[in-house]
Amino acid sequence: MSESAKAPKVRPVDDEEELESVSRAASFSGDSREYTLADFYELPDKDVFAKTRPFAAFVADAHHRKHYLYRRTLLGPCENRTLVLDPFTGQERSMIMMASNNYLGLTTHPKVVEAGRRANDEFGAGSGGVPLLAGTYKLHRELERKLAELKGCEDAVVFSSGYSSNVGTISALLRKNDAAINDKLNHASLIDGCRFTGATLRAFKHNDMKSLERILRESDKEYDGKLVIVDGVFSMDGDIANLPEIVPLARRYNARVMIDEAHATGVIGDHGRGTPEHHHMEGQIDIVAGTLSKALGGVGGFIASSADVCNYIRTYARSYMFSTSLPPAVTASLIASVEVIQTQPEIRQRLWENIRYMHTSLRTLGFDIGPTQTAIVPILVGDDLKLREMSREIHEAGIFLNPVYFPAVPKRLSRLRLSLMATHTREDLDTTLNVLETVGRKYNVIH
Ligand SMILES: Cc1ncc(COP(=O)(O)O)c(C=O)c1O
Repeated sequence: MSESAKAPKVRPVDDEEELESVSRAASFSGDSREYTLADFYELPDKDVFAKTRPFAAFVADAHHRKHYLYRRTLLGPCENRTLVLDPFTGQERSMIMMASNNYLGLTTHPKVVEAGRRANDEFGAGSGGVPLLAGTYKLHRELERKLAELKGCEDAVVFSSGYSSNVGTISALLRKNDAAINDKLNHASLIDGCRFTGATLRAFKHNDMKSLERILRESDKEYDGKLVIVDGVFSMDGDIANLPEIVPLARRYNARVMIDEAHATGVIGDHGRGTPEHHHMEGQIDIVAGTLSKALGGVGGFIASSADVCNYIRTYARSYMFSTSLPPAVTASLIASVEVIQTQPEIRQRLWENIRYMHTSLRTLGFDIGPTQTAIVPILVGDDLKLREMSREIHEAGIFLNPVYFPAVPKRLSRLRLSLMATHTREDLDTTLNVLETVGRKYNVIH
C-alpha cells in the first residue's frame, strides 16, 4: 500500500476562495436578497427536514421579487423562440431562447423526430431492462457503434445520462490508492464520480499547466494510478481544454486522460467530433465521455474508449449495470442525430456564424465575456444582487436567459450565461443584443 493511505482524502486547490460558505439557514431574515443557495445547505437539527423550511421562505421571497427564474415552464418545443408560461404573470408568451443546450436544433430536426416516431411504433415506449440483462436492443448496439465511429475509438458505452456516465465510469476505474486529478472548473458530475471512488481528489488551477504538473509530480510518488480529468469545453466559461499540453504531461507521469465532451460533441472540430478533433489529437485521449442531451438533442450519456476499457466499464460501472437502458425511440433519434452531424455540416456552420457574431458584438459593446471560444457565452456581472435585477429585466423583455450565482461559480464571478444555437436568426441575436445593451448600461456592466 502506498503512502496515500495516510493522506487526506480531499485536497482542495491551493489558491483562491473555495466554493463553500457557512450555513446561515437557521437565521433567515426573510429577505432573499441577503442570501445565496449555499446558505441553506446545512442546518444542524434532529429533523433532517428542518433546513427545507427557511429554504422555502427564501424561494417564496425571491419569487415575489421576480428574482427566482428556475424551472420556468416551456409549453412548446425548444426552438429559437419558445412558448413559455411566465411564472410572474401566469400568461403564455413567446420568448427568445438563449439558455438551451440544443446547440444544433436537433431536438426538432425532422429526421431525428421521425426516427424516434418509427422506433416507438416498432419497439414500444420503454426498454424494460438494464443493459446487461434484457435491456440491450439492436438500436443500443447501433448507437454505440455510431458514437465510437464519431469519436474515432474502438468502442463506446451508452448510459442513461451524461451525469451517470461520468459518475459510473470514474467510479468503475479508480480505487482508494489512486488519484483523480481534476481541472478546478470541471463539471459536478465528474467531481461526484471522483467522490464516489474513495480515491484522493486533487484539483489543479483552471487550464494551468504548471499547477497540473506540480500535482502530477506529487501524485506520482504518493498514489498508484492517476486519472487526469478535464471538460473539453468548460460548461460555465465556454473555453477549451489545453489538450496539446495536458496529454504529454499526463503521459510523462504515467497518468490516463479522460475528457468530458458534453459541450463539444457536434459543436467543435471541423466535423463536429469535439475537442480532440479541434486540437488534431484524435486517438490520443484514453477516455472520451459525453452527453447525448445537448447538441445531439436527446437524453443519455456515453464514453468512447478501447474495447477493453468499454468492456470493463459495462460490468463495473454501477450506474450502467443497475439502471434501465434508454427507451428505443430516444435511441433511434440519437442514431439519426449522429448521422445528421456527420452529413449536414451546414447546421454547425450556422451555429459558428452565430457564435462569431455574438462574441464580436458583445465584446464590441463592452461586455466582459471572459475566455469563451464556443457557444457558451458568459457575461460577467460579479454582483449577485445586480445580477438578480438584471435577470428580471431581461426576462420581462422576452429573453429566456439564465443567471449563474455562487455556489455554481465563485462569488465575484456571478454571470449571465448565454447558449447559442444554429437555429437563432440574426433578428433573434440583434433583439437579444439590444436588450442586453439597455440592461447592461443601466446596471453599469458595460465597460
Ligand atoms: C460538462 C457536463 N458534463 C456532464 C453533464 C451531464 O449531462 P446530462 O445532462 O446528460 O446528465 C453536463 C450537463 O448537463 C455538463 O455540462
